[in-house]
Amino acid sequence: MDAINVRDLKKTYAGGVEALKGLTFSVRQGEIFGLLGPNGAGKSTTVRIIVTLSSATEGRVEVDGVDVAADPVEVRRRIGYVSQNTTVDFLATGRENLHLQGQLYGHSGAALDNRVDELLKLFDLESAAKRVTQTYSGGMKRRLDVAMGLVHRPKILVLDEPTTGLDPESRAVMWRELERLAKDGGMTILVTTHYLEEADRLCDRLAIVDGGKIVAQGTPNELKATLRGDIVQVEIAVGHDAEAAAQLLRSTPGLSNVIREGQTCSAQAEEGAHVIPKLIAALEAAGLPVSHVAMSRPSLDEVYLSVTGKSFTKADAAGAAGPRGPVPAAMRTAKPGAK
Ligand SMILES: Nc1ncnc2c1ncn2[C@@H]1O[C@H](COP(=O)(O)OP(=O)(O)OP(=O)(O)O)[C@@H](O)[C@H]1O
Ligand SMILES: [Mg+2]
Repeated sequence: MDAINVRDLKKTYAGGVEALKGLTFSVRQGEIFGLLGPNGAGKSTTVRIIVTLSSATEGRVEVDGVDVAADPVEVRRRIGYVSQNTTVDFLATGRENLHLQGQLYGHSGAALDNRVDELLKLFDLESAAKRVTQTYSGGMKRRLDVAMGLVHRPKILVLDEPTTGLDPESRAVMWRELERLAKDGGMTILVTTHYLEEADRLCDRLAIVDGGKIVAQGTPNELKATLRGDIVQVEIAVGHDAEAAAQLLRSTPGLSNVIREGQTCSAQAEEGAHVIPKLIAALEAAGLPVSHVAMSRPSLDEVYLSVTGKSFTKADAAGAAGPRGPVPAAMRTAKPGAK
């Protein structure tokens, strides 16, 4: 039996926003499954329906075999939820936050004290346990959020963008914690993210969500393997017409999906090593000197481009209307220089 099973999920908000247009995916027991998508893709909407905080317009969701619409109380017992925005009480200490969360689930006494101690240790918060959490770093607050989602010992943990806004080091710490929960604790984890690198490195399998639909799913390697060939990038010397270079790339046989960003043109190549020398010669002959060339294997960014026709980084920035705003591209992409 799947840990989470989502079938033909649709959600139209009051006011007519069609946030989900028929999502289908399943999360297997014990795996880390990612929902990767740009701002506004429908990740939080999906997660909120799974954890029973919102209802579907159409479709069916089962958590550990329990229908979320039929028995939400049982679903909540089996699931831990870490929302996109922190739920930590900043005026309470770390320990008090965990205690309160436990009490909300009906736990008390020595059993709760022991559980709180265990979680403080597990998330490396012991030395800060007696401090009010407004003095915590962003990474510490987020680790406390995750710990709070685990107080009642759920089988399944659902996290909505657990690492957004964290620095790369805190993000890596969070990945290690989540991997340990899945690999050592046998926990099933569903995580949403808009970081390509996170989806690639952390998730056993993932689904790419775009405009309320799943446009691709599989292991990160399976997704990348759907794109044959290489990604070729050429940077045109400053002061020369990069758009003319992009046009030349578009008319070059063996190249596809050409995008220009600033002086850099990138394209998918059937055989990068074969095309690069000819390409440089053609650009130079056209009076377009090349200052830098790079070739790489396709990343999830290129997978996203191939299934949606747009660059992930651009889609994310375009959808970022909220107060958080877009995240620097360098934090989001697996490959330095990938746009
Ligand atoms: N309560 C609501 N009422 C109306 N529309 C909503 C509501 N919540 C979300 N939406 C809309 O539904 C769509 C999907 O939003 P959702 O929050 O699920 O996206 P997301 O993938 O989580 O994005 P982000 O990465 O920014 O968190 C967006 O167009 C959003 O504006
Ligand atoms: Mg969201």
